[in-house]
Amino acid sequence: MTFHVLVPDNVNQKAIDILKNADGITVTAPGKMERSDLLDAIGDADAIIIRSGVTADAELLEKATKLKAIARAGVGVDNVDLDVAAQKGIFVMNTPGGNTISTAEHTFGLMIALSRYILQGHQSLVEGRWDRKKYVGVELKGKILGIIGLGRIGQAIATRAQAFDMTVIAYDPYLPPEVAESINVELMPLDDVYAQADYISLHAMVTDETRNMINQESIAKMKDGVRIINAARGALIHSADLAEAIKSGKVAGAALDVYEVEPPPADHPLVGLENVIDTPHLAASTTDAQITVAIEAAELIVDFLIHNKAANVCNPVVLE
Ligand code: MLT
Repeated sequence: MTFHVLVPDNVNQKAIDILKNADGITVTAPGKMERSDLLDAIGDADAIIIRSGVTADAELLEKATKLKAIARAGVGVDNVDLDVAAQKGIFVMNTPGGNTISTAEHTFGLMIALSRYILQGHQSLVEGRWDRKKYVGVELKGKILGIIGLGRIGQAIATRAQAFDMTVIAYDPYLPPEVAESINVELMPLDDVYAQADYISLHAMVTDETRNMINQESIAKMKDGVRIINAARGALIHSADLAEAIKSGKVAGAALDVYEVEPPPADHPLVGLENVIDTPHLAASTTDAQITVAIEAAELIVDFLIHNKAANVCNPVVLE
């Protein structure tokens, strides 16, 4: 029996090589596919490997009549309708560890760039100005970093922040306190994090509880001059509320890598503001991370199709 794997997104070649070298697997990897082409092709696939650029919603899954597994080369599975996949017996698996360090390093880069106006300074110099007085920043040393969601990425940021002599506090209702203690991070209620932090970095998943958690009400609980970094998911922030708070000076600045809709529309309230820096969902985009997640995703698919082994399953599949 031969299984067909479709890779409709830009996934590192190492994944394709693993699939090609596996007995019993054929592979089609055209790079990032147009949605209409993917809808036409999905019916032939036994498995797919995707990144965040592919939306595996009910419409796609309905056409995926042979599909048994989706491997997400990355962490977030919010681009997959997990319930519909589960109902159809499709296993959704992710690669949670592979891009942790890249994401943490990008987040830290955003935090430094935000504090020192690195992007604004670059832009003004390119435009012919020499704005030394305008772009006076702040040090990280001695400041309090509040991390919301102290998972793998949050923990990697915490240890890096400590190397910069920051104090790290966090909110994470799911993490055993001893894990936080072991890396010298104090867990506390969310409102206490809001009240104490000079920097807030978001690392939570989007749920009914966390959607738009950074809004007018929560911002009012924060320190004046707080800086906010989001390299997790855009939907954690109510963009119009944050934009207002930046314009009023309540929030000193924000650094964003993610948006509710990607790419964000040109009139997005947080694109183009002087004290906001934006990157196009680059946090996991290093060659190192993309190789790691691609290899892990390909191995998940080979194990699943050929060896009947499922790992890192993200949805509650009920087998008949
Ligand atoms: C992830 O969820 O792994 C990151 O946001 C990176 C990506 O979407 O590819």
